[in-house]
Amino acid sequence: MTTYTSTWLCPSNIALVKYWGKKPEQLPMNPSLSFSLKLARTRTTVSLQAAKSMKLEFLFEGKESPFATRIEKYLDKLSIERPWINDYAFQIASENTFPHSTGIASSASAFGALALCLEDLSRQITGVENDDDKFFQAASRLARMGSGSASRSVYGGFAWWGKSNALPGSTDCYAVPVSKQIHKSYFSLCDAVLLVDSKKKKVSSSAGHELMNNHPYQAARLKQVNSTIEQLMRFMKEDGNRMAFIDLVEQEALSLHALMMSSTPSFLLLKPGSVAIIELIREFRQQTGLPVGFTIDAGPNIHLLYWREDQEAVHAFIKGELLYHTENGEWLDDQVGDGPLKA
Ligand code: DP6
Repeated sequence: MTTYTSTWLCPSNIALVKYWGKKPEQLPMNPSLSFSLKLARTRTTVSLQAAKSMKLEFLFEGKESPFATRIEKYLDKLSIERPWINDYAFQIASENTFPHSTGIASSASAFGALALCLEDLSRQITGVENDDDKFFQAASRLARMGSGSASRSVYGGFAWWGKSNALPGSTDCYAVPVSKQIHKSYFSLCDAVLLVDSKKKKVSSSAGHELMNNHPYQAARLKQVNSTIEQLMRFMKEDGNRMAFIDLVEQEALSLHALMMSSTPSFLLLKPGSVAIIELIREFRQQTGLPVGFTIDAGPNIHLLYWREDQEAVHAFIKGELLYHTENGEWLDDQVGDGPLKA
């Protein structure tokens, strides 16, 4: 019996400029920019066996998981353009290298890893080979169809997703790597994830994106975010703008929360602990002059951004002042990573 198999490890990513709001077909309302993490990854193996129709068995960390329903829908949708999907029984086994509910986007690494496996299997089954650039482009597009932010996870370093006149070659369909345009000093950026609250999100990503459809600040958001991403890329072309970079990244993260607070319905996702940490980070920056800042996704957890050369001082600060405001003193330390790996 014909069987095929593929295993990929794919990182999660953290957005410096947030994807918030979508157009139909899982296309972004605005361009976004992120870096892939090094340690927070999903490892996925997809095994296929010829069958009369598509079937799915999905195990997450060895157990059945409700994520299976989302994957089944995803495979169904993909089968329109990849008809071979209908001819196989899928066995998918997935595991994360990071604990659940840690403030790290697991759908990005999960759909990234799955999409890489599917693109790899597509090549094996159809025999159509293309170069690496095309392979990752196709995988990014497949990942996007599962979860928008996953489109950026198939590259190491920095990735940009979304059409913009500021970046030739950018498109809404898939993310593109931008590491070559970024100064090497930015590759020693670190992300310390401070877990303020591990409870399930108050608003799912898809419901959150929908809030942008009729948002009273939509036009202003689009104007601001396009200028932010352009400015950030300009800062990151050279070293020497770290403080300006940090200020803009913080402003962008708080804009995302301002949009959620002013949506209908309104969501306040920051907790007292999040606000305390934000204030302490700003005080620390002022007192030490170190380029240390934060970004936040659609939740209460704080991603503290710092440069590796400042690690000793930042770790002492985290342990001495910030952990008190986290849930059970939990945090993870990560950094810019090299991207996915085929196992
Ligand atoms: C705030 O990629 O999770 O993390 O496409 O509906 O799966 P779906 O949304 P998702 O949204 C991520 C939103 C964000 C910002 C970002 O990562 O760009």
